[in-house]
Amino acid sequence: MGLLVKAKIDYPGESAAVSYISGAFPHKELRRKASTGMSRKPITAFTEKQEWLQPIQEKGQALVKDAYRSMGPNARSVKNALHGVWLGHPLHGAITDVPIGSWTTAAVLDLLECGGRSEYAAGADAAVLVGLAGAVGSAATGLTDWSDTEGKYQRLGALHGLLNVGAALLYTGSYIFRKANKRGAGRGLGFAGLGMVLASSYLGGELVYGHRIGVDHSVDRDDLPEEYTKVCNESDLEEGKPSKGTVNGVEIFLLKKDGQIFALGNICSHVGGPLSEGEVKNGTIECPWHGSQFCLTDGSVVSGPATSPQPKLQVAVRNGEVHVRRQQR
Ligand code: FES
Repeated sequence: MGLLVKAKIDYPGESAAVSYISGAFPHKELRRKASTGMSRKPITAFTEKQEWLQPIQEKGQALVKDAYRSMGPNARSVKNALHGVWLGHPLHGAITDVPIGSWTTAAVLDLLECGGRSEYAAGADAAVLVGLAGAVGSAATGLTDWSDTEGKYQRLGALHGLLNVGAALLYTGSYIFRKANKRGAGRGLGFAGLGMVLASSYLGGELVYGHRIGVDHSVDRDDLPEEYTKVCNESDLEEGKPSKGTVNGVEIFLLKKDGQIFALGNICSHVGGPLSEGEVKNGTIECPWHGSQFCLTDGSVVSGPATSPQPKLQVAVRNGEVHVRRQQR
């Protein structure tokens, strides 16, 4: 148990791994996190050693944070919109399909043009332009998500972003050459840009599939008890103070407030922060790691960076004992 508390500060994704090895939480969700958290692909190891990225990371994060600060009270809504809270899914993953799809289309049309089919030239140019527009959206959403990452994930994200900037510059040059009727140079820059964006996509995939960034980290609903199961005594709960219990090896967030007891999955869906160590604010529990807020009543996301809700549990008090079960469908 102590290991979980120690490790969570630097690398949220790894804290679960350490806690499982310690045997503190022999839960299959955490076991899954353990296996992914411990795998280190060569690209991750390589990126970790790139010290020259450190100042870029620091300046980049400061710039993003300053930009949001300058928006004042509107910052939170803009940030939530770009994280994809309204979509229930990270927006970045969806919007990156626009530049990748458009630029792949442009490459195919360019190849046809190379083969003497000049009627495809206008289509290729349009696809390059649509890709550039999509790249702006991808950059805005990606930077917003990246500003809530730490450690090696932040560095991998920085490299991913730099490659995307490089690709966007190559495609901007490509478009300029195309309009200046230097089609060969325009196509050449386009092919180079596609190579760069594919390399960047590989890193993006590694962040998601290798390190579970942007993936729902909350407990699987099916692992919550189907029947009412005792989690603690009512007298264990202090009015207004978040606490945690365990049922079937699953951590449950508990809060007694104004005559009601609220229960949610304790592991934050963003990257696994412990909600029981968070703060209660205006009918929500705020995660201590990056400030996501979840509605106490139904677990929905009120504010990101999380985009997936927390599992909600039904509560029954019987003979002074608090029992919980998963929400009935
Ligand atoms: S772990 Fe990031 S907001 Fe909860």
